[in-house]
Formats: sequence, C-alpha cells, structure tokens
Amino acid sequence: MKEEIIKLLKLEGKLSDETIEEINTIDISDFSNLVKEIGKEKTNYIKAEEISKELNTEYIGKELYVFKEVSSTNTVAKFLSNNNVENGSVVISEKQTDARGRSGKSWESPLGGVWLSIILNQDVDHSRLPLITLSTGVAVAKALERIGIKNPEIKWPNDIMINDKKVCGILTEAIAKFNTIENVIIGVGIDASFDMNEIPEDLQDGTTTLEKELGRKENENTLITIFLEEFEKIINLFNEQEFEKILKEWRKRSYTIGKIVEVRAPFNKYYDGYVVGIGKEGALIVEKIDGSLEKVISGECIIKN
Ligand code: BTN
Repeated sequence: MKEEIIKLLKLEGKLSDETIEEINTIDISDFSNLVKEIGKEKTNYIKAEEISKELNTEYIGKELYVFKEVSSTNTVAKFLSNNNVENGSVVISEKQTDARGRSGKSWESPLGGVWLSIILNQDVDHSRLPLITLSTGVAVAKALERIGIKNPEIKWPNDIMINDKKVCGILTEAIAKFNTIENVIIGVGIDASFDMNEIPEDLQDGTTTLEKELGRKENENTLITIFLEEFEKIINLFNEQEFEKILKEWRKRSYTIGKIVEVRAPFNKYYDGYVVGIGKEGALIVEKIDGSLEKVISGECIIKN
C-alpha cells in the first residue's frame, strides 16, 4: 500500500489536481507521514538546500516542498494543509500549468518565475484576511527593495508594480471548517526572469519582470529567501495586532492613494472616485463624485489618471 501511494505522489514528477483527488480517496492512517515524501524531487533551479542554508526565520519556510511542475502551488498547499504539515510550510514550483489569479482569472506561470504558496495554520478572523494580503504585498515590496528595485509600489489590493507595470500578484485563500478559518494559503507569483513572449500578447504591455527592471538576473533562491524573511517579520506584526504599523508601510508604497479610479466592486457596483486612503481593516476609502465616502473591501480598482 505504501509503495502504491508513493508511486502516486511521484506520478510523472507532478502533483496534478487529479493526482491529489486520487490520493484523497485513499484512507490510510499513517498518510501524513507519507506526505513528507512529496516535494523532494530534483529540480532545475529552485533549490531547497540553498534556501534553507541562508534562511534566517523562526518558522516560515522551515519546511519546503519544491517541485518542477504542479498545477497550482495553492492547490498543493491546500492538500498539504489538510494533512497537518508544519505551520509556515512553503510550496514552490518552477512552473505551474493551471495557476489561479484573483477574480477567477488564470495566472501565467512559465519557467523563470517565482511561484510559491505559504501555509499558515492559524485561525484568522474573516475581517482580518484582507490585512494578510496587504501584509504580503509589503513583504514582497521590501524584498524587491533589498535586491535593488528602487520604487516597487503596491496597487490595491495586492499587485506589486514597478514603473507602472505589474511584476507580482498575490492570491490569499482561506480554509474554513464550520465557519472558522483554520488555515490560510498565501499564493505569491513574482515575474522574475522570463521572456515576454512566454505570456499571451494581451498581458505583455502591462507586465514586467525583475530581470528587465534590474538589468540583471537575480538568483531565484536568494529572492525567495529574502521574501520569506520579510514575510515572517510582517506576519509577526500581524499576530501582535500591530495593524497600524503594517498599514504605514503599505501607505508609503501605495500606487493607488491619490488617484482617480473606477471601482468595480462585487454585484456590478461600478463607480468612479478619488482614493483618499486605506482604512484600518485594509479597505480602500474612495470619495465618490457626489462627495460621499465609500469603503471598498473587495473588487478591482482601475486607475484612471
Ligand atoms: C493575481 O494577481 O491575480 C494573483 C496571482 C497569484 C498567483 C500565484 S502564483 C503562486 C500561487 N499559485 C496559484 O495558483 N496562484 C498563486
């Protein structure tokens, strides 16, 4: 039986949605030990040992699950979090074949990007989830500053921009049982160093890569290490309820405050307005044309000027 499962886990070196489904149907009591077998395959340029050697954290990234190719690191992370992996475990893949973006969109993930998901085993109040995404945005921006990017900015809620082009997206997903959030999966996609022709033409104009902006290639393992360190620092602030400190860092790098935007909130609630600031729960505060203030908790925000 054990051999069977390990064979499944290593199926073609991938962990596709189908494989995960198949594994989930197997009822075996020591299954969580076998989970440790996955994410140990030989990869081309993401190297767990290189990251672990340099990483200076208490718990984020202490367990790394590294793949050559998966459907989506968020999907793998969800599967692992259902099997009691350590708090702060990180799933990284060199390529994703079916990655997800926000608002049900897909996410292009060719070789040469940093595609990872962090698993937090902590119960978080629903109302605080947006702050986790904003915190992650600050951690990415700080990591980019540390590798030499001069002006990374955060477009609400979670796009990291360099010189008006998107370089990173964040997808936070919560796993709730009986209405209580038990695990949070934070998916981060950084466009590190691939050729623009690797992504569809309609995305090329609005996208940039770190390699393009730096004029050199940064080592992916170094970038991951730095990001995980910044992430742990800011998530510690989150856990200490130091929300104002997080928002201060976010505001300093905001791409959205002070701009005229079109808000596309859920239920087709579209309107134009001026972004006044960000509220303490992470909502964008927008002044509408009639002078009234609106709090935007979720949705899209299109910059108009
Ligand atoms: C967005 O801007 O729409 C969010 C994109 C999030 C992409 C990352 S890549 C790693 C993780 N796995 C996924 O399937 N999505 C996230």
